[in-house]
Amino acid sequence: MIITGNIEALQEAKKTLRGTIGFVPTMGALHQGHLSLIQQARKENDHLIVSIFVNPTQFLEGEDLNAYPRKEAADIKICKLAGVDILFMPAVETMYEKDELCIGAPALRAYVLEGEKRPGHFDGMLQVVMKLLNLSSANRAYFGKKDAQQLVLISQMVKNYFMDVQIIPCDIIRDENGLALSSRNVYLQGEEKQRALSLARSLKRATKLVMAGEENVEVIRKEMLRVLEETDEVEYVAIVDREFNALERVEIGNTIILVAAWVGKPRLIDNLWI
Ligand code: PAJ
Repeated sequence: MIITGNIEALQEAKKTLRGTIGFVPTMGALHQGHLSLIQQARKENDHLIVSIFVNPTQFLEGEDLNAYPRKEAADIKICKLAGVDILFMPAVETMYEKDELCIGAPALRAYVLEGEKRPGHFDGMLQVVMKLLNLSSANRAYFGKKDAQQLVLISQMVKNYFMDVQIIPCDIIRDENGLALSSRNVYLQGEEKQRALSLARSLKRATKLVMAGEENVEVIRKEMLRVLEETDEVEYVAIVDREFNALERVEIGNTIILVAAWVGKPRLIDNLWI
Protein backbone atom coordinates (compact mmCIF):
# COMPACT_ATOMS: atom_id res chain seq x y z
CA MET A 1 0.00 0.00 0.00
CA ILE A 2 1.33 3.44 -0.95
CA ILE A 3 0.65 6.08 1.70
CA THR A 4 1.09 9.69 0.70
CA GLY A 5 -0.09 13.19 1.42
CA ASN A 6 1.61 14.62 -1.62
CA ILE A 7 -0.25 15.41 -4.87
CA GLU A 8 2.70 14.62 -7.19
CA ALA A 9 3.33 11.30 -5.42
CA LEU A 10 -0.35 10.44 -5.75
CA GLN A 11 -0.31 11.21 -9.49
CA GLU A 12 2.85 9.11 -9.92
CA ALA A 13 1.34 6.20 -7.97
CA LYS A 14 -1.80 6.33 -10.13
CA LYS A 15 0.30 5.94 -13.29
CA THR A 16 1.23 2.42 -12.17
CA LEU A 17 -2.45 1.38 -11.99
CA ARG A 18 -4.08 -0.44 -14.89
CA GLY A 19 -7.84 -1.01 -15.00
CA THR A 20 -10.69 0.53 -13.05
CA ILE A 21 -10.24 2.64 -9.94
CA GLY A 22 -12.65 2.65 -7.00
CA PHE A 23 -12.43 5.53 -4.53
CA VAL A 24 -13.67 5.94 -0.95
CA PRO A 25 -13.25 9.41 0.61
CA THR A 26 -13.38 9.55 4.41
CA MET A 27 -12.48 11.73 7.36
CA GLY A 28 -10.82 8.79 9.16
CA ALA A 29 -11.52 7.18 12.55
CA LEU A 30 -12.59 4.29 10.35
CA HIS A 31 -15.33 1.95 11.52
CA GLN A 32 -17.34 -0.87 10.02
CA GLY A 33 -19.47 1.64 8.08
CA HIS A 34 -16.42 2.97 6.23
CA LEU A 35 -15.07 -0.54 5.87
CA SER A 36 -18.20 -1.74 4.10
CA LEU A 37 -17.68 0.98 1.46
CA ILE A 38 -14.01 0.02 1.16
CA GLN A 39 -14.86 -3.67 0.78
CA GLN A 40 -17.51 -3.01 -1.86
CA ALA A 41 -15.11 -0.77 -3.79
CA ARG A 42 -12.40 -3.44 -3.51
CA LYS A 43 -14.73 -6.06 -5.02
CA GLU A 44 -16.00 -3.93 -7.88
CA ASN A 45 -12.72 -2.41 -9.12
CA ASP A 46 -9.20 -3.40 -10.12
CA HIS A 47 -7.68 -0.76 -7.86
CA LEU A 48 -8.70 1.04 -4.72
CA ILE A 49 -7.88 4.51 -3.42
CA VAL A 50 -8.99 5.71 0.02
CA SER A 51 -8.54 9.23 1.32
CA ILE A 52 -8.46 10.37 4.92
CA PHE A 53 -8.83 14.12 5.31
CA VAL A 54 -10.66 15.98 8.07
CA ASN A 55 -11.91 18.76 5.85
CA PRO A 56 -11.98 22.10 7.73
CA THR A 57 -14.28 23.88 5.24
CA GLN A 58 -17.25 21.63 6.04
CA PHE A 59 -17.11 22.35 9.79
CA LEU A 60 -18.88 25.49 11.00
CA GLU A 61 -17.61 27.84 13.71
CA GLY A 62 -18.02 26.11 17.07
CA GLU A 63 -18.28 22.60 15.61
CA ASP A 64 -15.96 19.75 16.59
CA LEU A 65 -13.18 20.25 13.99
CA ASN A 66 -10.37 20.18 16.55
CA ALA A 67 -11.97 17.46 18.67
CA TYR A 68 -12.91 15.30 15.66
CA PRO A 69 -11.65 11.76 16.46
CA ARG A 70 -8.32 10.96 14.77
CA LYS A 71 -6.90 7.43 14.71
CA GLU A 72 -4.20 7.50 12.06
CA ALA A 73 -2.26 4.36 13.03
CA ALA A 74 -5.37 2.18 13.33
CA ASP A 75 -6.78 3.59 10.07
CA ILE A 76 -3.58 2.72 8.18
CA LYS A 77 -3.75 -0.85 9.50
CA ILE A 78 -7.39 -1.22 8.46
CA CYS A 79 -6.66 0.07 4.95
CA LYS A 80 -3.68 -2.27 4.55
CA LEU A 81 -5.74 -5.27 5.60
CA ALA A 82 -8.60 -4.26 3.31
CA GLY A 83 -6.31 -4.26 0.26
CA VAL A 84 -6.18 -0.52 -0.39
CA ASP A 85 -3.64 0.33 -3.13
CA ILE A 86 -3.20 4.03 -2.36
CA LEU A 87 -4.04 5.79 0.90
CA PHE A 88 -4.11 9.55 0.41
CA MET A 89 -3.72 11.58 3.61
CA PRO A 90 -3.06 15.21 2.68
CA ALA A 91 -2.42 18.17 4.96
CA VAL A 92 -4.84 21.11 4.91
CA GLU A 93 -2.25 23.31 3.13
CA THR A 94 -1.97 20.72 0.37
CA MET A 95 -5.69 20.80 -0.31
CA TYR A 96 -6.40 24.52 -0.04
CA GLU A 97 -4.90 27.85 -0.91
CA LYS A 98 -5.87 31.10 0.78
CA ASP A 99 -8.04 32.71 -1.88
CA GLU A 100 -9.94 29.72 -3.20
CA LEU A 101 -12.30 29.43 -6.12
CA CYS A 102 -15.43 27.90 -4.64
CA ILE A 103 -18.36 26.06 -6.11
CA GLY A 104 -21.67 26.77 -4.38
CA ALA A 105 -24.10 24.15 -3.16
CA PRO A 106 -27.59 24.44 -4.71
CA ALA A 107 -29.64 27.15 -3.04
CA LEU A 108 -32.64 25.06 -1.96
CA ARG A 109 -31.60 21.44 -1.56
CA ALA A 110 -28.43 22.27 0.38
CA TYR A 111 -30.12 24.67 2.80
CA VAL A 112 -32.87 22.45 4.21
CA LEU A 113 -32.52 19.86 6.99
CA GLU A 114 -28.76 19.34 7.57
CA GLY A 115 -28.07 22.45 5.51
CA GLU A 116 -30.49 24.56 7.54
CA LYS A 117 -28.90 23.47 10.82
CA ARG A 118 -25.38 23.69 9.37
CA PRO A 119 -25.48 26.50 6.78
CA GLY A 120 -22.40 26.35 4.56
CA HIS A 121 -21.55 22.79 5.55
CA PHE A 122 -22.47 21.39 2.15
CA ASP A 123 -20.53 24.07 0.25
CA GLY A 124 -17.35 22.96 2.04
CA MET A 125 -18.22 19.29 1.63
CA LEU A 126 -18.82 19.64 -2.13
CA GLN A 127 -15.67 21.71 -2.51
CA VAL A 128 -13.48 18.98 -1.03
CA VAL A 129 -15.31 16.11 -2.73
CA MET A 130 -14.83 17.83 -6.11
CA LYS A 131 -11.08 18.11 -5.38
CA LEU A 132 -10.82 14.52 -4.16
CA LEU A 133 -12.78 13.07 -7.08
CA ASN A 134 -10.54 14.94 -9.51
CA LEU A 135 -7.40 13.76 -7.71
CA SER A 136 -8.54 10.14 -7.61
CA SER A 137 -9.40 9.80 -11.33
CA ALA A 138 -11.82 7.16 -10.08
CA ASN A 139 -14.31 5.32 -12.26
CA ARG A 140 -16.52 4.71 -9.24
CA ALA A 141 -16.76 6.57 -5.92
CA TYR A 142 -18.57 5.12 -2.91
CA PHE A 143 -20.73 7.07 -0.44
CA GLY A 144 -22.94 5.92 2.44
CA LYS A 145 -26.69 6.47 2.50
CA LYS A 146 -26.10 7.35 6.18
CA ASP A 147 -25.36 10.88 4.95
CA ALA A 148 -28.32 10.93 2.59
CA GLN A 149 -28.34 14.62 1.77
CA GLN A 150 -24.58 14.57 1.17
CA LEU A 151 -25.01 11.66 -1.23
CA VAL A 152 -27.81 13.35 -3.16
CA LEU A 153 -25.83 16.60 -3.45
CA ILE A 154 -22.67 14.83 -4.62
CA SER A 155 -24.72 13.02 -7.29
CA GLN A 156 -26.11 16.39 -8.38
CA MET A 157 -22.62 17.95 -8.52
CA VAL A 158 -21.35 15.10 -10.70
CA LYS A 159 -24.35 15.54 -12.99
CA ASN A 160 -24.23 19.36 -13.14
CA TYR A 161 -20.46 19.45 -13.76
CA PHE A 162 -20.45 16.49 -16.19
CA MET A 163 -17.87 14.69 -14.07
CA ASP A 164 -16.83 11.32 -15.42
CA VAL A 165 -17.32 9.22 -12.29
CA GLN A 166 -20.08 6.90 -11.15
CA ILE A 167 -21.43 7.59 -7.66
CA ILE A 168 -22.31 4.35 -5.85
CA PRO A 169 -24.74 4.63 -2.89
CA CYS A 170 -23.99 2.15 -0.08
CA ASP A 171 -26.30 0.82 2.64
CA ILE A 172 -26.19 2.06 6.23
CA ILE A 173 -24.19 -0.18 8.57
CA ARG A 174 -25.52 -0.52 12.14
CA ASP A 175 -24.24 -2.08 15.36
CA GLU A 176 -25.94 -5.12 16.87
CA ASN A 177 -28.50 -2.86 18.59
CA GLY A 178 -29.40 -0.99 15.43
CA LEU A 179 -27.42 2.19 16.08
CA ALA A 180 -26.10 3.58 12.78
CA LEU A 181 -22.31 3.56 13.03
CA SER A 182 -20.71 7.00 13.17
CA SER A 183 -17.31 8.35 14.22
CA ARG A 184 -19.20 10.62 16.62
CA ASN A 185 -20.74 7.67 18.54
CA VAL A 186 -17.58 7.62 20.68
CA TYR A 187 -18.95 10.73 22.42
CA LEU A 188 -21.94 8.74 23.80
CA GLN A 189 -21.63 8.07 27.54
CA GLY A 190 -23.33 5.35 29.67
CA GLU A 191 -27.12 5.43 29.37
CA GLU A 192 -26.93 7.77 26.37
CA LYS A 193 -26.03 4.71 24.28
CA GLN A 194 -29.47 3.29 25.04
CA ARG A 195 -31.28 6.55 24.36
CA ALA A 196 -29.39 6.91 21.08
CA LEU A 197 -31.19 3.81 19.84
CA SER A 198 -34.44 5.74 19.68
CA LEU A 199 -33.39 7.21 16.30
CA ALA A 200 -33.28 3.76 14.70
CA ARG A 201 -36.41 2.74 16.66
CA SER A 202 -38.34 5.72 15.29
CA LEU A 203 -37.40 4.65 11.75
CA LYS A 204 -38.47 1.07 12.49
CA ARG A 205 -41.79 2.41 13.75
CA ALA A 206 -42.15 4.37 10.49
CA THR A 207 -41.43 1.21 8.46
CA LYS A 208 -44.12 -0.67 10.35
CA LEU A 209 -46.65 2.07 9.70
CA VAL A 210 -45.80 2.24 6.01
CA MET A 211 -46.00 -1.55 5.74
CA ALA A 212 -49.42 -1.40 7.39
CA GLY A 213 -50.53 0.98 4.62
CA GLU A 214 -50.05 4.38 6.31
CA GLU A 215 -49.05 7.01 3.72
CA ASN A 216 -49.79 10.25 5.54
CA VAL A 217 -46.46 11.81 6.48
CA GLU A 218 -47.93 13.83 9.37
CA VAL A 219 -49.20 10.65 11.06
CA ILE A 220 -45.81 9.00 10.58
CA ARG A 221 -43.91 12.07 11.85
CA LYS A 222 -46.06 12.28 14.99
CA GLU A 223 -45.47 8.62 15.81
CA MET A 224 -41.74 9.02 15.24
CA LEU A 225 -41.60 12.09 17.49
CA ARG A 226 -43.18 10.05 20.29
CA VAL A 227 -40.41 7.46 20.04
CA LEU A 228 -37.84 10.25 19.88
CA GLU A 229 -38.93 11.72 23.22
CA GLU A 230 -36.04 9.73 24.72
CA THR A 231 -33.51 11.97 22.98
CA ASP A 232 -32.48 15.33 24.48
CA GLU A 233 -33.65 17.35 21.52
CA VAL A 234 -35.04 16.52 18.11
CA GLU A 235 -33.75 18.79 15.36
CA TYR A 236 -35.89 17.42 12.57
CA VAL A 237 -37.95 14.51 11.38
CA ALA A 238 -38.45 14.85 7.64
CA ILE A 239 -40.10 12.82 4.95
CA VAL A 240 -38.86 13.79 1.50
CA ASP A 241 -38.53 12.38 -1.99
CA ARG A 242 -35.17 11.29 -3.44
CA GLU A 243 -34.50 14.91 -4.45
CA PHE A 244 -35.26 16.25 -0.99
CA ASN A 245 -38.62 17.83 -1.81
CA ALA A 246 -41.10 17.56 1.09
CA LEU A 247 -43.79 14.92 0.57
CA GLU A 248 -47.38 14.83 1.78
CA ARG A 249 -47.75 11.15 1.16
CA VAL A 250 -45.12 8.42 1.24
CA GLU A 251 -44.18 7.22 -2.25
CA ILE A 252 -42.78 3.71 -2.14
CA GLY A 253 -39.46 3.64 -4.03
CA ASN A 254 -39.05 7.43 -3.85
CA THR A 255 -39.03 8.34 -0.16
CA ILE A 256 -36.35 9.07 2.41
CA ILE A 257 -37.28 9.47 6.07
CA LEU A 258 -34.64 11.39 8.02
CA VAL A 259 -34.07 12.18 11.63
CA ALA A 260 -31.52 14.33 13.49
CA ALA A 261 -31.42 14.53 17.28
CA TRP A 262 -29.10 15.33 20.16
CA VAL A 263 -28.25 12.67 22.73
CA GLY A 264 -25.71 13.92 25.28
CA LYS A 265 -22.78 15.53 23.48
CA PRO A 266 -23.26 14.26 19.93
CA ARG A 267 -25.80 15.24 17.37
CA LEU A 268 -26.90 12.02 15.67
CA ILE A 269 -28.47 11.46 12.26
CA ASP A 270 -30.15 8.42 10.75
CA ASN A 271 -32.45 7.72 7.85
CA LEU A 272 -34.41 5.15 5.96
CA TRP A 273 -34.86 4.78 2.19
CA ILE A 274 -38.29 3.45 1.30
P1 PAJ B 1 -17.05 10.40 6.90
O1 PAJ B 1 -18.02 10.88 7.90
O2 PAJ B 1 -15.73 9.89 7.37
O3 PAJ B 1 -17.76 9.29 6.04
C1 PAJ B 1 -17.11 8.72 4.92
C2 PAJ B 1 -18.13 7.88 4.18
O4 PAJ B 1 -18.57 6.81 5.01
C3 PAJ B 1 -19.39 8.68 3.79
O5 PAJ B 1 -19.78 8.34 2.46
C4 PAJ B 1 -20.41 8.21 4.82
O6 PAJ B 1 -21.74 8.30 4.36
C5 PAJ B 1 -19.97 6.76 5.00
N1 PAJ B 1 -20.50 6.21 6.27
C6 PAJ B 1 -20.33 6.69 7.52
N2 PAJ B 1 -21.00 5.94 8.43
C7 PAJ B 1 -21.63 4.97 7.73
C8 PAJ B 1 -22.49 3.89 8.08
N3 PAJ B 1 -22.86 3.65 9.34
N4 PAJ B 1 -22.96 3.09 7.09
C9 PAJ B 1 -22.61 3.32 5.78
N5 PAJ B 1 -21.79 4.32 5.40
C10 PAJ B 1 -21.30 5.14 6.34
O7 PAJ B 1 -18.79 11.86 4.96
C11 PAJ B 1 -17.65 12.26 5.13
O8 PAJ B 1 -16.71 11.59 5.87
C12 PAJ B 1 -17.14 13.56 4.51
O9 PAJ B 1 -18.21 14.46 4.40
C13 PAJ B 1 -16.46 13.35 3.13
C14 PAJ B 1 -17.43 12.79 2.09
C15 PAJ B 1 -15.23 12.44 3.27
C16 PAJ B 1 -15.96 14.74 2.60
O10 PAJ B 1 -15.12 15.35 3.51
